[in-house]
Amino acid sequence: MKAAFINSYGQFDQIKIGDIDRPEIDDHDVLIKMKAASVNPIDWKMVHGDLKALIKLKFPLVLGSDGAGVIEEVGAGVTEFNVGDEVFFRCDKANIGTFAEYFAIPANLIAKKPTNMSFEEAASIPLVGLTTYQALKEKAGMTEGSRVLIHAGAGGVGSFAIQFAKAFGAHVATTASKKRFVLLAELGADEIIDYQSQHIENELNGFDIVFNTLGDSVQEPSYKTLKKGGVLVNVLGIPEPLVVAQYTSNILVKLISHINQWRKEGLAAKYNAKYKHLLMYADGKQLREIADLIEAGKIRAIIDSTFPLAKVKEAFERSATGRAQGKIIIKISD
Ligand SMILES: NC(=O)c1ccc[n+]([C@@H]2O[C@H](COP(=O)([O-])OP(=O)(O)OC[C@H]3O[C@@H](n4cnc5c(N)ncnc54)[C@H](OP(=O)(O)O)[C@@H]3O)[C@@H](O)[C@H]2O)c1
Repeated sequence: MKAAFINSYGQFDQIKIGDIDRPEIDDHDVLIKMKAASVNPIDWKMVHGDLKALIKLKFPLVLGSDGAGVIEEVGAGVTEFNVGDEVFFRCDKANIGTFAEYFAIPANLIAKKPTNMSFEEAASIPLVGLTTYQALKEKAGMTEGSRVLIHAGAGGVGSFAIQFAKAFGAHVATTASKKRFVLLAELGADEIIDYQSQHIENELNGFDIVFNTLGDSVQEPSYKTLKKGGVLVNVLGIPEPLVVAQYTSNILVKLISHINQWRKEGLAAKYNAKYKHLLMYADGKQLREIADLIEAGKIRAIIDSTFPLAKVKEAFERSATGRAQGKIIIKISD
């Protein structure tokens, strides 16, 4: 089968499009004939080897972390899904490879594709949707009426997160450049801050939650927007020590994560706030809840651009500019 893979870490010219063996399934897996996948910054960061201290992956390493397709085979122990079901999913970090014609995955990580989305639209959702669910619901405890600041509202995560938070009745502020304002207002943002000419700490206060999708550059000003006891959830940088320990026994890596956590919590304490880091995980049940919100018309896909499988390198170049509006899609088959 055709796939996009690398044989070693390096630059984007390491990416090869070629033939590799079709995966085989275990009893609790399904084999998916891939229709589309999406580009997430983690995919191109992985080409550079950014996760290698945490996760040991084997070469050839097929790229791609989420997608949508049709079930081609089911394992003997799978009862919830059948051949022909249309599904979408985020794969486990240790078993990636959705930029390929077929992908094998445990059935508990997939969900039925929302009926009101195309395969390309559905493929845009799993990684950013689960990241948002886990950041806002699990880590930050968002409820109706929560005041939530979502950084980079026009990005893949941000454009989903605004809609998700509004679906739960939150008050949403977001940051963006001026040219994104029309879209972000359509998605339901209540306040939009132009990060090129305004400072969030001068414009916003009394927030319960900050969803930090930009990392250290916005950390300190973000704390100034929070009320006492507010929570900042960061998805960049070093994961929490307990999460790091799930992936590696390397003492140095673990020590670095403890020091980082101690520093980050120290800064949060200065502002009477809480610091949390999220490294998102695959989850079929949460994805089903997201599919329900989509079918109820509360969330739509925001697509920046679509590339064929042969052009993964070009799709990564587009993503790495940091200027995509919504998601970049890899179309794999009709
Ligand atoms: N830890 C995890 O589990 C996890 C999960 C998902 C994502 N992430 C990380 O989260 C980050 C965001 O992911 P993404 O998919 O949303 O990225 P993305 O789609 O590439 O984000 C691009 C968007 O960011 C906006 N942007 C750039 N700089 C900005 C700034 N200073 N202020 C406000 N907006 C800004 C851009 O808008 P303009 O063009 O208008 O500037 C653009 O629309 C990535 O680093 C990714 O690796 C982590």
